Amino acid sequence: MASPKTAVSSLSLLVALIICFSPVHSSNTIGKGYRLISVEESPDGGFIGYLQVKQKTNIYGSDITTLRLFVKHETDNRLRVHITDAKKQRWEVPYNLLPREQPPPAGKVIGKSPTTVHEISGSELIFCFTKDPFTFAVKRRSNGQTLFNTSSDSTSPFGQMVFKDQYLEISTSLPKDASLYGLGENSQAKGIKLVPNEPYTLYTEDVSAINLNTDLYGSHPVYMDLRNVGGKPYAHAVLLLNSNGMDVFYRGTSLTYKVIGGVFDFYFVAGPSPLDVVDQYTSLIGRPAPMPYWSLGFHQCRWGYHNLSVVEDVVDSYKKAKIPLDVIWNDDDHMDAHKDFTLNNISYPRAKLLKFLDRIHKMGMKYIVINDPGIGVNASYGVYQRAMANDVFIKYEGKPFLAQVWPGPVYFPDFLNPKTVAWWGDEIRRFHELVPIDGLWIDMNEVSNFCSGLCTIPKGKQCPSGEGPGWICCLDCKNITKTRWDDPPYKINATGVTAPVGFKTIATSALHYNGVREYDAHSLYGFSETIATHKGLQSIQGKRPFILSRSTFVGSGRYAAHWTGDNKGTWQSLRVSISTMLNFGIFGVPMVGSDICGFYPQPTEELCNRWIEVGAFYPFSRDHANYYSPRQELYQWDTVAKSARNALGMRYKLLPYLYTLSYEAHMTGAPMARPLFFSFPEYTKCYGLSTQFLLGTSLMISPVLKKGRTQVKALFPPGSWYHMFDMTQAVVTKTGKRVALPAPLHFVNVHLYQNTILPMQQGGLISKEARTTPFSLVITFPAGATEGYATGKLYLDEDELPEMKLGNGQSTYVDFYASVGNGTVKMWSQVKEGKFALSKGWVIEKVSVLGLKGAGSASEIEINGSPISNEAKKIEVSSKEHTYVVGLEEEGENKSV
Ligand code: GLC
Repeated sequence: MASPKTAVSSLSLLVALIICFSPVHSSNTIGKGYRLISVEESPDGGFIGYLQVKQKTNIYGSDITTLRLFVKHETDNRLRVHITDAKKQRWEVPYNLLPREQPPPAGKVIGKSPTTVHEISGSELIFCFTKDPFTFAVKRRSNGQTLFNTSSDSTSPFGQMVFKDQYLEISTSLPKDASLYGLGENSQAKGIKLVPNEPYTLYTEDVSAINLNTDLYGSHPVYMDLRNVGGKPYAHAVLLLNSNGMDVFYRGTSLTYKVIGGVFDFYFVAGPSPLDVVDQYTSLIGRPAPMPYWSLGFHQCRWGYHNLSVVEDVVDSYKKAKIPLDVIWNDDDHMDAHKDFTLNNISYPRAKLLKFLDRIHKMGMKYIVINDPGIGVNASYGVYQRAMANDVFIKYEGKPFLAQVWPGPVYFPDFLNPKTVAWWGDEIRRFHELVPIDGLWIDMNEVSNFCSGLCTIPKGKQCPSGEGPGWICCLDCKNITKTRWDDPPYKINATGVTAPVGFKTIATSALHYNGVREYDAHSLYGFSETIATHKGLQSIQGKRPFILSRSTFVGSGRYAAHWTGDNKGTWQSLRVSISTMLNFGIFGVPMVGSDICGFYPQPTEELCNRWIEVGAFYPFSRDHANYYSPRQELYQWDTVAKSARNALGMRYKLLPYLYTLSYEAHMTGAPMARPLFFSFPEYTKCYGLSTQFLLGTSLMISPVLKKGRTQVKALFPPGSWYHMFDMTQAVVTKTGKRVALPAPLHFVNVHLYQNTILPMQQGGLISKEARTTPFSLVITFPAGATEGYATGKLYLDEDELPEMKLGNGQSTYVDFYASVGNGTVKMWSQVKEGKFALSKGWVIEKVSVLGLKGAGSASEIEINGSPISNEAKKIEVSSKEHTYVVGLEEEGENKSV
């Protein structure tokens, strides 16, 4: 909480103390900026200022005359800057969807003349401003760097802040060498680092992910900024919490937001490490959802599993091919005429389906089905009847808004309405009684409409239904351009072609609960559906829900996993999948992956080989294909099956590590899949690297991403890297280097960094089985070490409990430590709540130590202070590796030496 640092007695002194730069005037064609007319303390520890427009213009509408500025250091490393109309409540991301502190209500002057400087003692972020014109900057206390600065100069000549009803503009200057990441969802064709002069438009759209550089399914107006200042890395992030459509123009030395509504609600988090940034960011927007263990297994899906026998055959074929598989999915093929929460009695007869589910559930496998938000308009359909009775739909001119999706004519539930949330939960419960699903896949929730504008059902015309996809809009659709909400003065670059904001979605003048306009809430549709679905699943299952959502917003990671939508079976889509996945880690949605082998069109055999070698290391690993694509399950080609056994075989051995990463993600927001700069922020060469990634801190995947290649030129940051498929091989580099690694078709390069203790198990074909196998630990020291240390972690729990945490008697956490010195490797651990692990009978039966120098460097191994007897110790010596195989049973707690 704020602890006033310096007491000052007058307003002028306050201003003098926090004005840290002089105003620079610049020309602006759209607005002339604002002048700060008063500053006062707010009772909750922030401060409030009032801003008056300097001169009104009429471009994109008239300027709002008086604005209210609210600034608060919410924590030592988080600063909020909120600017809105001083007189009228404006639309903001609802506080019940994304819980956070409410600024004092608009329109009231509260508090008294300030008597303190508004900085939390020790706060890393300093807020500075100029009065006329009003501009502000955010500085980092520890190195004096300016992180954000709305005052323009000759290097960043942009205009003054603009605040109109339907157009908000603000810019910041940036140093040339800042590396920016984030601002999505965007297909990131050029890699993870933002590229100057590329458009970044944020507005949720059902634009296939094959379209490069357009706004896609989600909206995350946040970027991470990584700078190397005098050899030291510093990262921070800036979130503009706003759900309206926006264009963000990044020009290398400046960044401009052009937003079509809402308020400026900026959050700055100070880092300084990339991991600190995601920790601070997710503490604001919500920690990533706990994931069930099985969800880290491999998933098979496809649109066009025409009947249950095909699904059964897929499961059996995976078994036969000895390729791991945990989850089998149905797209809408199981439905009756594409209608949510129904079963097709002919192709998916319930009794047979239940028998099948019983069989796979006994094996430990899971079953997930798709669900689209559009509810078929059909008077004999129970879901529709109950929806109508509860009045749950979005309205246009007093009637439910008619659109078209797979079932033909549909209405869209309004998930901002509490009644809808209750009805949706009840439909999930009813369906779960019909079919015991293990999770839900919520799709088309941008929200996607096959028509733009208002549909009407033409007289005498019937929409085809139940005969497969691919048909065009059957309804008469009329573009709506009646109001300024349908046709706003500023056109964002929607779908990359400045499409109307109502393009292939709900008319933006349609109304939600409480008079909220679709115009404002559009990008929250998928997010609000995710929250409702989470609530519904959790209440019926009493378990950790698994939800996969296509559309996401700031905070979605708290409830759901994400896949990157309809990609292509091309090498480019394979490459893009890495950048998009890494971005979602920064967005607080760590459980993410792309359709392995591509959604459409058909991938080549070679591409599918390479794709599973990448996809086996996506946090969310699922093969999915389009209705019209030929079958592409991993067993369809012998070569792909072989690559899958190799890569997924490794994934299944790594499941305890992945699960520990998902626990860390849940506790601290740390992405499971990360760019290399997360572990090597000093190593600037990896700042733009988008072709390799890390799982956790230490496991690096360097895949083949180009046709015909059997070699990978991989970048290795300084240190020793051990090959996971052949631990006698290592890459050792003092200063970092690129290395050409062999990469034959069935082989993916995975390296483990020094100073790590990696928990593994023996793998298997289903995670449930793999989980019962004995553990091994791989300990890596720097190559040739006679002295060194290593650390690792392991989290274990009863994986379907709603919560993922220690302290409930159903989980164990172990910190592993190892050191080498004086000819002895010592290993010890700190175990929290070891009883749970013991009750499961888990043992560590093998410890491999890598990196020791010759046989003489460590002839003894001690575990928890006791030397391991010679009989129990098998030492294999090679020039690069010592492997000790020991029996080790963890007993009791806190066994450290
Ligand atoms: C959307 C989804 C895709 C799904 C299809 C049919 O295009 O992105 O994954 O297969 O709808 O439901």
